[in-house]
Amino acid sequence: MAGPCPVAIDAATMGRYVTELGRCGEQSGGGLIRPMYGEAWVEARDLLAGWMREAGLEVRSDSVGNLFGRLAGRDDRRTVLTGSHIDTVRLGGKYDGALGVLSGLVALAALREQVGIPARSLEVVALCEEEGSRFHANYFGSRAILGLVDGAEPESLLDEKGVALADAMREVGLDPARYRESVRDDIDTFLELHIEQGPVLYEEGTDIGVVTGITALCWLSVTVTGRADHAGTTPMDARRDALQAAARMAQEVAAVARDRGRPAVATVGRWKVRPGGANIVPEQVVFSVDVRHADEAELTAMLTELRARCDVVACGEGLGLDIETVKWEAAAPTNAGLQQLLAEAAEDCGASWRHLPSGAGHDSQLFARRLPTAMLFVPSVDGRSHSAAEHTPDEACALGARVLATALHRLSNA
Ligand code: HGY
Ligand code: MN
Ligand code: MN
Repeated sequence: MAGPCPVAIDAATMGRYVTELGRCGEQSGGGLIRPMYGEAWVEARDLLAGWMREAGLEVRSDSVGNLFGRLAGRDDRRTVLTGSHIDTVRLGGKYDGALGVLSGLVALAALREQVGIPARSLEVVALCEEEGSRFHANYFGSRAILGLVDGAEPESLLDEKGVALADAMREVGLDPARYRESVRDDIDTFLELHIEQGPVLYEEGTDIGVVTGITALCWLSVTVTGRADHAGTTPMDARRDALQAAARMAQEVAAVARDRGRPAVATVGRWKVRPGGANIVPEQVVFSVDVRHADEAELTAMLTELRARCDVVACGEGLGLDIETVKWEAAAPTNAGLQQLLAEAAEDCGASWRHLPSGAGHDSQLFARRLPTAMLFVPSVDGRSHSAAEHTPDEACALGARVLATALHRLSNA
């Protein structure tokens, strides 16, 4: 059932919201650092809660810190949920996650003001964590809602300073023992608006991406162990240099993806050397590996090959090697009916659109395996993301929010 877009959304308002929310955690050299339960995260949530109240939404926080703004429907028993995450990667941009929350907020405010009370309740959520940038607790907000948090996580997950997730929760007034209270069973549909974080829409000049599916991804932690020795007195042929071996392994990791071609990708992003002195042959290196492929079988094959190649380097140099799987997320197709709804909503708003897969991971890949879920993308200038250079023009943000509002209007009055 198509029809005209029911709401007008002001681009300047979107721009103001992005700019103001982007000040929470902004660094003097550019980029945002806004990890879960940190000061900037609290500031961002407080700002959002105020805007939600101003928009006439019922505001609530759950037991892990997900923040909700609800527009109650005439039938208030079930929920159509939209939103995204408010944590960021280190030195990230102002749009990743945040734009999905702001678009949901602006869409619900416009529907309430310009259309009125919906038949079924609509809700926007600012999910507490998605990136895993402080704790390896990826998708913690979504997993809490879906009942997928492991009871051991709050006490066992530590940040780089050794602070336990449970203590970080207590510091912001949350009781880690109550994390199960965040589970919900009233959600019928989840829609997430997100920046594309790649170049396709921007290079094509297409307004909206209707996401067909989200990539499978795996995080590894690789530990290479050699022997610390004096840099001046240890001959090159008598060393067990962990860093030289790890560097060769990092090259092999990239080669596994390059040899396969797109959409295979592999990234070494974190690198720790011990003891880390200029005049000491490195004893140990711990580095991260992020490996992705749209096809899970291909991802599994990449991981097998990657391990084998690292083994060859370690054995050749007589070094220790330990490879730990830190995270595995299966690929998630989105709901075909909701894809159709988003495409119609885009057309009703006069937006050009196309289907495309997501190479980035999203909260939607958790929801998609448990309830009807879909995503829409707006363009990222030059395809940049996870960087201070991340940008989406205000007009493009407003058009995305109008398409989201149109889809939500259809869903809440269906
Ligand atoms: O890594 C990702 O794709 C997402 O930003 N968490
Ligand atoms: Mn991200
Ligand atoms: Mn994101």
